[in-house]
Amino acid sequence: MLVVFIVDSANFISSKLKAFSFSYGGSNLTVEYKTVALKDRVQFPATALYYQKVFKTINLFILVMKLSLIKTKKSEIRTIAKIYMTEFSKPPYNESWTINKSLKKISFFYQFYDLYSIKADQELVGFICINPNFLCPGDIAFGEEIAIKEGYTDKGIGTWVLNEISKTYSKKGFKKLMGIVDTNSRAKKLYKRLGINPSKKNILIEKDIRRT
Ligand SMILES: CC(C)(COP(=O)(O)OP(=O)(O)OC[C@H]1O[C@@H](n2cnc3c(N)ncnc32)[C@H](O)[C@@H]1OP(=O)(O)O)[C@@H](O)C(=O)NCCC(=O)NCCS
Repeated sequence: MLVVFIVDSANFISSKLKAFSFSYGGSNLTVEYKTVALKDRVQFPATALYYQKVFKTINLFILVMKLSLIKTKKSEIRTIAKIYMTEFSKPPYNESWTINKSLKKISFFYQFYDLYSIKADQELVGFICINPNFLCPGDIAFGEEIAIKEGYTDKGIGTWVLNEISKTYSKKGFKKLMGIVDTNSRAKKLYKRLGINPSKKNILIEKDIRRT
């Protein structure tokens, strides 16, 4: 998939234009402004490809990012472990990660679960791990973890990844996508938007065992 970002400081697209075309890699692409993220906080990655389109006096800078989701290679484990450790050491998670713990867990995911690398252009920007053997194997695609590194969040990548995962496991005959979400996580809103809702059948149970 291609994600297109536009620097539109004059609010030109939203006020005057419904769609426009430009050429990318030999093909002509049409972009409808509704589908384009127009967020001031977008930070462009250094590797991005830029195009400039001039509409009369208004210059639009167009960024195209090519996304891919492919099974992780052994050589990518360390980069993914760093992303994992970094993102889950932050609030609201504040988990006590070390690089060794993270490497151990990502290596486990790599060996026994379905671990995918998320790439924007050629850069590894995140990962998603699915456990296909949760409860009755082949029924539930259980999302163990997803993380996208800082600078790449809030650009629609997570939405695209979760939709791709839904399609992939649906085609394989899986019935449900499941996962656990921190009640204080911003990600809750994203899951709701994607129709990934609190389970009516299962609840997460826990007990504090520090003093037993
Ligand atoms: C959660 C996450 C995978 C979503 O990917 P993304 O590419 O940022 O998602 P999209 O751009 O498609 O969607 C944006 C939505 O994602 C969520 N989101 C964005 N940044 C986030 C962040 N740093 N932490 C948690 N959720 C975030 C929000 O719901 C946001 O919507 P909002 O702006 O309306 O609140 C990504 O933000 C991330 O890796 N966050 C840190 C780790 C994490 O929280 N993992 C989920 C564990 S259940």
